[in-house]
Amino acid sequence: MIPQSFIQELLGRVDIVDVVDRHVKLKRAGANYLACCPFHSEKTPSFTVSPAKQFYHCFGCGAHGTAVGFLMEYGGMGFVEAVKELAQGVGMKVPEVRSEQAARRAEAGDDLYGVLLKAAQFYRARLKDAPRAIGYLKQRGLSGEIARRFGIGYAPDGWQNLAAAFSDYDGPALAAAGLAKTNEEGRRYDVFRDRIMFPIVDVRGNVIGFGARVLGEGEPKYLNSPETPVFEKGRELYGLYQARRTIREAGRVVVVEGYMDVVALAQHGVDYAVATLGTATTPLHVQKLARQSDEIVFCFDGDEAGRRAAWRALENSLAQLQDGKQVKFLFLPEGEDPDSYVRKHGKAAFEALLDRAAPLSRILLDGLAGRVDLSTAEGRAKCIHEAKPLLKQMQANLLRVQVVRELAEKCRLPPEEVARLCELAPGGDRSRPPEPRVARPSPTPLARAMLRVLVSNPTFAERLSQEQRALLSSPELAPVAELVDALKDSGVASPAMLFEATRESQYAMLYQDVAGETLTAAEDVESAQADWAGAFIQLELVCVQSEYQRLTASGARNDAERKRFQELSRRLAELKGAAGNGARTPI
Ligand code: CTP
Ligand code: MN
Repeated sequence: MIPQSFIQELLGRVDIVDVVDRHVKLKRAGANYLACCPFHSEKTPSFTVSPAKQFYHCFGCGAHGTAVGFLMEYGGMGFVEAVKELAQGVGMKVPEVRSEQAARRAEAGDDLYGVLLKAAQFYRARLKDAPRAIGYLKQRGLSGEIARRFGIGYAPDGWQNLAAAFSDYDGPALAAAGLAKTNEEGRRYDVFRDRIMFPIVDVRGNVIGFGARVLGEGEPKYLNSPETPVFEKGRELYGLYQARRTIREAGRVVVVEGYMDVVALAQHGVDYAVATLGTATTPLHVQKLARQSDEIVFCFDGDEAGRRAAWRALENSLAQLQDGKQVKFLFLPEGEDPDSYVRKHGKAAFEALLDRAAPLSRILLDGLAGRVDLSTAEGRAKCIHEAKPLLKQMQANLLRVQVVRELAEKCRLPPEEVARLCELAPGGDRSRPPEPRVARPSPTPLARAMLRVLVSNPTFAERLSQEQRALLSSPELAPVAELVDALKDSGVASPAMLFEATRESQYAMLYQDVAGETLTAAEDVESAQADWAGAFIQLELVCVQSEYQRLTASGARNDAERKRFQELSRRLAELKGAAGNGARTPI
C-alpha cells in the first residue's frame, strides 16, 4: 500500500499538463488546454486538461481523471506503476511497506533496469557494424526504421563481449539480469551469442528482457531471457509499448505469437500488433489489452496447435469480457504465420482477414458442440457439462445471455434450464458482485450543486459545523456527506487530490462527472462561498419549515412545544432573510 499522504504530496508536485502533453500534444485555450481525445476518435478537440484543477475531462466521451488516472488509462499502467512513473518524474521515491525480501528484490530490480538498458544499447550499437546481421534483417524484409522502432540489436559471436560494456562483468548483476552465466570452472560467459536481439520493453519503456534469434537455421531458434524480478512472462506483451498510440488509433489490437510477426506486421503498416512471449495468453494479458482497446483479435496458425492455443486464450479471456469489449479469433491458412502472410499479401489483405475474424462466442459454441455428438442425449448432456465451468467465468452480461440462448437451442433445453444446470447466478457470478452503481437514485440538483462547489473547493469541508453536517443526512445528499467526511482532516487541497482520495468511493464517478461540469464555468472563491452557505440555508429552511408546519397542524400542546414553535418562527424568519439577501442559493 502506498500511503495516501504520499499520493497527495505527489499530486501537489506533478503538473498534469506536462504529463499529458508528453503523450498527447496540448493547445492552450483560455484557462485550460485542449486536444483531440485519445480515448475516442474525434475531429474537433473536446479533451480538456485543467492546470488549475489538475485533471482532464473529455466532453465527448466522458473520460476523466488525474495524472495518475491518465497514465493508467492511456499508458495501460496499474495504479502503483503509474504512481511510480510520476514520482520518478519529479524526483520522489515511493515509500512502500513491504517485507525485507521484497525490498531486496526491488533493490535488485532497480539495478536490473539499468543493466538491461545498457545491454540493449550495447547490442544495438553492435548491429551497426555487423553486416551479416543487417543482411539477415534485410532478407526478412525489415527496414532500418523498423529496427530502430523496436530497438533491435545484435549480440556478436564470442564468449565475453559484454565485458566491453560492463566493468563489473564478473559481478552478480549480469547473472541476475539473465545476460551472463558462470561455467563449472567459474568462468563467466555471455548467454546471447551471434543472435538478433529483440529487447522486451514494459509499458513504462524500461527494457526488462530479450528475445534472441539465431541468424538463419540453428537450435534453439529463439533464446529468451529468464524471468527475473522485473520480467514476468505472463504479464508482458512484446510490442505493446511501441503500439500504445497506434492501438488506440486503430481501435483494435492484434495478438500474435512471435517477435517477428509483430515486427513484420509493423513493417507493413499493421502497427497495432503485440505478441505473447512464448507463453499462453494469460488473464492478465487480456486485462492489460482490454484497457487499451475495445477489440482484441487473437491470431493463430490454422493447424491443430493453433486451435489448442486459441482455446486456451478463450478460456483466459472469459472472465475479462465486459459488454462493449470484443474478443475475436483469426486462424491463418495452414503453413502461414502473420509475418509470412503480410509479406506475401500486404496490409489490406491482412486487415481483410481481421475484419472477418470469428467472435469469441462463435469459437466457444462451435468448440463446445464440436466435441460431442449433439444428436444424442448423452452428447447434449456432456455439452452442458463442459460449458458449465466456462459460462460460470463469464459475467452476467448481454454476451452470456446470447451464448446461453444458443447453447440451449443446440442442447434442446429452455435457456433458463441451461442457466440452472450451469449454476449461473442471475446477477452474475456470486464471487464477483456486479458493480453497485446501477439502481442508485441520481443526486438532486441541490446535491449536484453542492458537489460542484466542494470539488473545486475541497477545503470547505473543514469548516463544517456539526449542525451543518447533520443537515446532510438525507439519502439524496449521501454523496455530499460521504465527500465531506472523506475530505475532513485529509489535507486534500485540490480536485486532483480529491479524486485520488475518493478513488474507491461508490460515488467516484459522480464526483468526476461533476468536476467535468466545473471546467467550463467561471468561478471565484467568493461566489463559491456564497453558494455553499446558501445551500445550507436552503437545507435548514426545508427542515425548519416542515417541523413548523407539523407543529402548526397539530397545535402546540404544552410549554415545550410552544417554546419550540417560537424558536422555529424566529429561525424561519432569519433564514428567509438570509436567503433573500446576501447568501445565494446555488440552484
Ligand atoms: N519461441 C521460443 N523458443 C523457440 C521457438 C519459439 O521462445 N525455440 C517463441 C518466440 O517468442 C517466438 C514464438 O514462440 O517468437 C513463435 O515461434 P515460431 O512460430 O517458431 O517463430 P516465428 O515467430 O515464426 O519466428 P521466425 O519467423 O523468425 O522463424
Ligand atoms: Mn515466422
